[in-house]
Amino acid sequence: MSVSDVKKYDREYVIHSWSVQTALDPLVISRTQGVYMFDENGKRYLDMTSQLMNQNIGHQHPKVVEAIKKQAERVCFVAPGLAYESRSFLGKALAEITPGDLKKFFFTLGGADANENAVKMARAYTKKWKIVTRYRSYHGATYGAIALTGDPRRPPVEPAMPGVVRVFDPYCYRCSFGLTYPSCDLRCAQSVEEVIQYETPETVAAVLVESVVGSNGLIVPPDGYMQRLREICTRSGALLIADEVMSGFGRTGKWFAIDHWNVVPDMITMAKGLTSGYVPLGAVALSKKITDVLDKQMLWAGLTYNAHPLACATAIATLQVYREDKMLENTTTMGEVVRQELEAMKARHRSVGDTRGIGLFWAIELVKDKKTREPLIRWNAMGPEAAVSREINKRLLEGGVYTTVRWNFLFIAPPLCIKEDELREGLRVIDKVLDYADSLAI
Ligand SMILES: Cc1ncc(COP(=O)(O)O)c(C=O)c1O
Repeated sequence: MSVSDVKKYDREYVIHSWSVQTALDPLVISRTQGVYMFDENGKRYLDMTSQLMNQNIGHQHPKVVEAIKKQAERVCFVAPGLAYESRSFLGKALAEITPGDLKKFFFTLGGADANENAVKMARAYTKKWKIVTRYRSYHGATYGAIALTGDPRRPPVEPAMPGVVRVFDPYCYRCSFGLTYPSCDLRCAQSVEEVIQYETPETVAAVLVESVVGSNGLIVPPDGYMQRLREICTRSGALLIADEVMSGFGRTGKWFAIDHWNVVPDMITMAKGLTSGYVPLGAVALSKKITDVLDKQMLWAGLTYNAHPLACATAIATLQVYREDKMLENTTTMGEVVRQELEAMKARHRSVGDTRGIGLFWAIELVKDKKTREPLIRWNAMGPEAAVSREINKRLLEGGVYTTVRWNFLFIAPPLCIKEDELREGLRVIDKVLDYADSLAI
């Protein structure tokens, strides 16, 4: 098929997610390899966002491609009710890396349904119904998951699932309580307990949070926050659910971001890096106290493609690649390079208000004015108002860098196999594009 046909048929027959269809002119990708993708003209782009922050091991890893081929030749599909080799082995392989006693898994198609199933299970286990989540959060787009989400993707599709109560975030750069860490004594965490009290603990089934907030601005909770949430949940009889869909699988330099604080939640939801996006798969990891109860009850959940054998085989191979290619170690080393470079950019550019991150999971927060911290682009800006984000994106692509720019956040989350010279190449392009952002700042 010629490139013009790809474009023509795409516009004629394909509806793209999260878009105004008539405003679209998507780049045609012809191939991908390692940390790069190539367009129809062979132009190379450094993938500084791992597609949707999911291709953690990079593009087209030969070992995972081989595992997919082998599994496809053997057995493509067996119903979820049957036991199958790749399913069983994946459970065992995951149990080697999950914290505490979270050693049983319900396999889903992706992150949204992992979160929805976690909610069903939390409600079944606690016999309570309310779920506490945060405003600067994203937990998926299906009707239950979007209700859990705090960010602006939710209101346009409301009313969604009932029973969600939202609280403020550990967002130190723009603290909702006007306080400063550590003298704040984690007021944001304490407010979660206050909200649970107002809602009454007898109704609150779980607190569901991203261990490190991803698409809502890369919020790394301050030390002590996750520990405090754990204590609050335990005290109030609510389960703590860690959404590690984006932050899991080495993204922060540990298997799961919550491992940085040695906190064991009651459930972990995961997807993305589990298969590195090669084939869709998600999972809910459950602690023993929960499975001890739920194992004896009917589980009112399941989809035709849950625990797909092809996806499970892909995940097994992906886990091996993380280990063999020492991706977690590389993430920690390369993360230090990002930290230093972004610190320098913050000092150099008047539009850079804050730089935040951990491992290979970073964001630059752009401001109009460093003193007032007024965002360069308003949170939730759409259409013409978001033209600046689009212009930044355009300039990055011209410079050969593909990344996510969402309002005033520019994300840096390359594949975990990235080498230092590749990373520095990408950061140089970003640095140059920030001159444009500076021209709009005071
Ligand atoms: C933290 C988080 N949770 C859940 C999801 C939803 O995952 P999926 O798109 O696989 O349904 C995402 C997707 O970006 C996410 O970042």
